[in-house]
Amino acid sequence: MSDMDMGHSAPETPRDGASRRSFIKGVIAAGAAVSSSAYLFRTNIAGQPASGGGERLISITVNGQVRRVDVLKQETLATTLRYKLGLTGTKLGCDRAECGACTVLVDDTPHYSCSMLTHTLRNRKVTTIEGLASPDGTLHPVQQGVVAEQGFQCAFCMPGFVMATVGFLKTNPNPSRAELAHGVSGNLCRCQDYDKILTALLKGAELSRGA
Ligand code: FES
Ligand code: FES
Repeated sequence: MSDMDMGHSAPETPRDGASRRSFIKGVIAAGAAVSSSAYLFRTNIAGQPASGGGERLISITVNGQVRRVDVLKQETLATTLRYKLGLTGTKLGCDRAECGACTVLVDDTPHYSCSMLTHTLRNRKVTTIEGLASPDGTLHPVQQGVVAEQGFQCAFCMPGFVMATVGFLKTNPNPSRAELAHGVSGNLCRCQDYDKILTALLKGAELSRGA
């Protein structure tokens, strides 16, 4: 995994509070929009070339827009989002349903996009981290909670945690700390600052209730 994909694309990680806050906000607003040649390379090894024979044209609704895309039978949603639609805010960590980095909402329910086949999602509604902010750029309350509490270190896992939280809050808008911890227990953080992450996500829940 390259430094760039671990969220280290900025020249230096800022040390003071204000610049770190700006740094995190920038990462969140952009959906940590970095691409990775390492991922592309791995994807090709896995037999999912960016284009080629055997593709089918399907329509899926992504972040409120109907997208027409050619997909292979074995192509995962994470691959389609990242390498065909350019939505690199969705991260690939384990690529085998263990870490939650690739979490997106499908019809408002969190799913691991590395473990869903895109062709099964015809006419379904997919929401990625890029689709959370308002058209005027206002961050989603859960994203605002992350900014306020500076809840992540490298932030590679952040989009997955945020999407899992947004989905969880649709069913339980006022969770206890323990309930929210259980709600995002399908997401792992390599930096392992879970206490701080939970504080940030709870702040997001609080802001969501006020929104
Ligand atoms: S990349 Fe999908 S669960 Fe880890
Ligand atoms: S993996 Fe670094 S903050 Fe979670």
